Amino acid sequence: MHRLVFLGPPGAGKGTQAAELATSLGLLHLSTGQLLRSAAAEKSRLGLQADRYMRAGQLVPDELVLGILKSNLARPKARAGFILDGFPRTLPQAEALEQITPIETVISFEIPESMLVERLTQRWSCPACGTVYNLATKPPRTPGQCDREGAALVHRADDEPAAVRTRLKVYHDQTAPLLDYYQRKGRLHPIDASGDVASVGRRLREAIGLAGSSAVPSAAASPTQGL
Ligand code: AP5
Repeated sequence: MHRLVFLGPPGAGKGTQAAELATSLGLLHLSTGQLLRSAAAEKSRLGLQADRYMRAGQLVPDELVLGILKSNLARPKARAGFILDGFPRTLPQAEALEQITPIETVISFEIPESMLVERLTQRWSCPACGTVYNLATKPPRTPGQCDREGAALVHRADDEPAAVRTRLKVYHDQTAPLLDYYQRKGRLHPIDASGDVASVGRRLREAIGLAGSSAVPSAAASPTQGL
């Protein structure tokens, strides 16, 4: 069973690779960012609390994120394995995760910072199904519209330049220390996250011991299966 954590700066491609791998292996894809954005869109109490932190590019307080993570890991689908995309992001979150479930493999997405800003400014996504596009590297078939849902694509508020700068700083200050934490536990597997989506996917599969197996998506699964 795969119990994976994807670590990396904003725009490194964690969500893109997590969606593909989860679909291909039948894993639960848990993106805390996407769960929080859905809660904000529904205007739930948690969503309203989280929204102001997210818009500013700051981390949502640990206790709020831990609550949403725990309830999702308790879902039956998590028993087949899961990918945590964007969790943990602080040492207290990593320590709390140790108490909830064992994690074997932590993938660190390594990429020059100059590429991140380019990727984020070109990112648009579907508010209905969560599919992520990129105007430069993965444009929708019809400009401005989701290929699956036909919904008008949106640009995330936290992909504006000021919020991106804050997110990068927050990553370096609060999340990057987790690289040492998992390195010391012998669970860290860095991969080169530059290059196209297919090459990064091949490196990812090698890192988790699936070298040689092809990434054939299952027709039944959807990119938002875990959300
Ligand atoms: P979250 O949604 O997790 O954002 P993030 O970690 O900043 O990561 P991104 O979603 O921006 O990037 P990604 O690495 O997934 O890249 P993607 O695949 O989309 O979190 C958002 C906010 O929620 C946080 O700031 C915080 O406020 C809150 N939050 C979430 N989790 C939290 C936690 N645990 N604790 C506290 N707060 C939390 O790719 C980016 C673009 O590049 C796309 O357009 C894509 O198409 C394109 N692309 C991807 N791969 C490639 C490639 N190989 N080549 C070319 N283009 C590519």
